[in-house]
Amino acid sequence: MPVARIEATSAETSLGPSLETSSVASPSTAESASVAANLGRGPWPGEPASGRGRSHGTSSHHAFDRWFRYPAGFATDYVGLLLDRLHVESGTVVDCFTGSGVTGTAARARGLGFAGIEAHPLIAELARLKLTPSATGQAVRDLAACIEASAGRAIASAPNGWQRVLAEEPDLVRRSFAAETLYALVSLRQAIVSHADDPAAEYLKWALLATLRDVAGVKVGWPYQRPGVARKPRHTDAIKRFQVRAQFIATDLDSVASGVAKASSAQVVTGDSRDSAAWAKLSGSGIACVSSPPYLNNFDYADATRLELYFWGEVTTWGDMCREVRGDMVTATTQQSSVREKSEALDVLRGRSARHPDPAEEIVGLAEEMTKAKKERQKRSKEYDQVAPAYFVAMWDILQNLHDFLGAGSRAVWLVGDSAPYGVYIDTPRLIGEMSEAVGFTFTEDVHLRARGDRWRQNVDRHNVKLAERLIVMEKP
Ligand SMILES: C[S@@+](CC[C@H](N)C(=O)[O-])C[C@H]1O[C@@H](n2cnc3c(N)ncnc32)[C@H](O)[C@@H]1O
Repeated sequence: MPVARIEATSAETSLGPSLETSSVASPSTAESASVAANLGRGPWPGEPASGRGRSHGTSSHHAFDRWFRYPAGFATDYVGLLLDRLHVESGTVVDCFTGSGVTGTAARARGLGFAGIEAHPLIAELARLKLTPSATGQAVRDLAACIEASAGRAIASAPNGWQRVLAEEPDLVRRSFAAETLYALVSLRQAIVSHADDPAAEYLKWALLATLRDVAGVKVGWPYQRPGVARKPRHTDAIKRFQVRAQFIATDLDSVASGVAKASSAQVVTGDSRDSAAWAKLSGSGIACVSSPPYLNNFDYADATRLELYFWGEVTTWGDMCREVRGDMVTATTQQSSVREKSEALDVLRGRSARHPDPAEEIVGLAEEMTKAKKERQKRSKEYDQVAPAYFVAMWDILQNLHDFLGAGSRAVWLVGDSAPYGVYIDTPRLIGEMSEAVGFTFTEDVHLRARGDRWRQNVDRHNVKLAERLIVMEKP
């Protein structure tokens, strides 16, 4: 049965700022939020004033979110509004695309448990550090002071051979910073690595990784790092900025210890949510899911974090990036796709179409339309037609795993955008909703949140199809 498309509330006008910072909300807005939350129904929140869904990445000032600004991440206050709207009072909240762990921190702030899977190994590490703390705030402060002193000594006694040390850094890293700044960053890194046995060192690794974009002297905004384009660094003193970032982390860890961020159980698995083996590592079952999958829009989560991956030495070549970082990720970019994968995915969809003609046949049809549209284009184009079939098979498998993990009566809300490769409109939220029905969910709501894609308006190759970000709601009967 088709699901009616509805409009979200603009939380800026009706729900007011974050519920977590309700002290700054006016009585009337806080009141209307709590009425909606208490009833577990009413309009779905659009955007809170202090962090916008996932349209601007994670918040740079909220506790935990500020550790590292992950592109396409949620903001904790927005997830908080969704959890309140779902009226989840106890149990485990699930996120099959955990990212930097924002659903987890929002769940913990409400005393709820969390179970998440994330394929990007570096980002899964960040989520795990936030959600299953292995050091106290004080331990992080103490080690930060020690690291600062040791980096300071290295800089003071810098051999004339700075250039030699820096020459060993990858090209992207060398080109992103002034030599003096890079020497400070490398000295901090060496000091952290030399304390690798101390659990607090992992936290300081993140204080340093997050410092990189703060002190870069070239454009390193998301999604592309452009070492050829200079910019004024936002902060000039790498050591001072590192200390500020270490302090953010320590303060947020203090809040967990003092119960401000309430104790609860959390599990984060580094792995592939298409794979039932990754789900088998999670114990218990879920009461709700708040998640946002990669969109079918060619955004490359591995490449977006290239500066951090190269600086820390997690990857040194493009091959490493494909294997180690992208290996478990859903195909959502042309860099990941292949002719073979397209053909295998189409076979899977044709096989599923006997039992589930909706949406399998539609996706096969869309793939044919895209292939045709690509051939008709005058210029050689990216292989979007190869991406879509594998993407939808992945979403289908993940929905099946999610369905198996959730308890009866649980609801899942996913924030999803549509897309229009070569101008062929793909209604991804509706198709995912229909797939959810194929695996046993009831697709109950489809909420329009906001227009998207305007950023690329000036691109002459861009289609004119209007795109949107939507919230789909699925319920396990
Ligand atoms: C839109 S982001 C979600 C961000 C998250 N909501 C947050 O607030 O940080 C999608 C995430 O899905 C992850 N991902 C992609 N394929 C995956 C897979 N097969 N299993 C688990 N995670 C995956 C990506 O690495 C990315 O971090």
